[in-house]
Amino acid sequence: MNPSKVIQVAYDHPGNPTELAWAKVPREPDMTEKAQLVARIKQLLIEQNAVLVAHYYVHPDLQDLAEATGGIVSDSLDMANFGHQHPAKTIIVAGVRFMGETAKILNPEKRVLMPDPEANCSLDLGCPADEFSKFCDSHPDHAVVVYANTSAAVKARADWMVTSSVALPIVRYLKEQGRKILWAPDRHLGNYVKQQTGANMLIWQGSCMVHDEFKTIELQALKAQHTKAKVLVHPESPASVIALADVVGSTTQLIKASQQLSADEFIVATDNGILHKMRTLSPSKIFIEAPTAGSGANCKSCAHCPWMAMNGLVNLAEVLETGKNEIHVDPAIIRRAVLPIQRMLDFARKVNLPTRGIGNA
Ligand code: 13P
Ligand code: SF4
Repeated sequence: MNPSKVIQVAYDHPGNPTELAWAKVPREPDMTEKAQLVARIKQLLIEQNAVLVAHYYVHPDLQDLAEATGGIVSDSLDMANFGHQHPAKTIIVAGVRFMGETAKILNPEKRVLMPDPEANCSLDLGCPADEFSKFCDSHPDHAVVVYANTSAAVKARADWMVTSSVALPIVRYLKEQGRKILWAPDRHLGNYVKQQTGANMLIWQGSCMVHDEFKTIELQALKAQHTKAKVLVHPESPASVIALADVVGSTTQLIKASQQLSADEFIVATDNGILHKMRTLSPSKIFIEAPTAGSGANCKSCAHCPWMAMNGLVNLAEVLETGKNEIHVDPAIIRRAVLPIQRMLDFARKVNLPTRGIGNA
C-alpha cells in the first residue's frame, strides 16, 4: 500500500518572490480495499442523498465513480452548473477548493463536502483578496472579470466570473459594450483572451504552476517526431506553447476535439488526469503528454496538479461517513459572489454554450 505523501509546491505571487505551499496526497488503496471503498461510497451516496461532482484531473477512480453514481465528471463550468441543478441535498466536490466554494455559493441551502478542503490552486493562492481589492480600487472604470480559480472573496469583488470555456465570448461581449477590463488572476489565459478579442485588458500576473511548466522547444521537437499528431492545449499554458496548438480550449473542449478530429495521435498540454477520459472515449487513438522539465526536476513539472491529487477514495469515503470537511462561505460574501457566477451561467445559457460534460448525456 502506498503511504500518503506531502509535496512542496512553488507558485507565482505577483510582486513577491516565488511562494511555497504544500499538498498532501492520500495513500492509494490496494485492489481489495478499492472495491470495498467503492461499494461503501455508492451506498453512502444514496443514504445521504448526495451527488459526486468531479473534475477531469482527479484520480480515474473518482471520475468513474462520479459517472457510475449519476454525478458528473467535467470542467469547472459544467461542475458549477450540474451541482446547481441537481436535486441532491449534499454535493461532494472532488476537485480543488474554489470548486467547492463555487458550489456552496450557488447552493447555500445545500451541504457541500470535499475529500480535502485544503486542495488549493496556485492561481487562487497568488491572488489574495486584499491585494486584489486594491488593484480594483485603482481602476474603478474597468469591468472586473475573474477566472473561476479564485477565492469566494475575490469573486465578491468581481462583475463577472468566467471559466476557460466561456472567457472568450464574455470578453468579446464586454468589448462590444465598450468596456475596459481588469482581468485576474491567470496571465497566460488573460493574454490569450486579449490577443483573441483585442479587448483593452489589465492583467493580474498569476499562473497555474502545472500549465506554466510546459516547454516550447521540447514540444516543437515532439511535434517533429509525430508529424501527424494534433496538439491540444489548455489556455493556462504559456503563449509560446499555445502558438503550437491545433486546438486551444477548456478541458471539456479539448476532450471533444480529441473525439471529433480525425487524427490518430494527439499531444496533450494540460494536466495528465485528462488522459483517462480521452483514452476511454477513443481507445484506438494515441495520447502523448506534452513535455515538461520532467517529474525528476521537481514537483512542478509532473503535469499533474498536486492539489487535484489530494482527492482519493479513502478521504472521499471518510467525508461521507463523518460529514467532515464541509465547505462554509460567509453569507455576506455569498450574497455578493453569487452575482458574477450567476451572470456567467445566464450568459452561457443565452449563447447556448453546452453545459454538460462529455459522456454525461
Ligand atoms: P477547466 O475549466 O478547463 O476544466 O479548467 C480548470 C482548471 O483548473 C484547469 O487547470
Ligand atoms: Fe489550479 Fe493549475 Fe491545479 Fe488547475 S491545474 S487547479 S489551475 S493549480
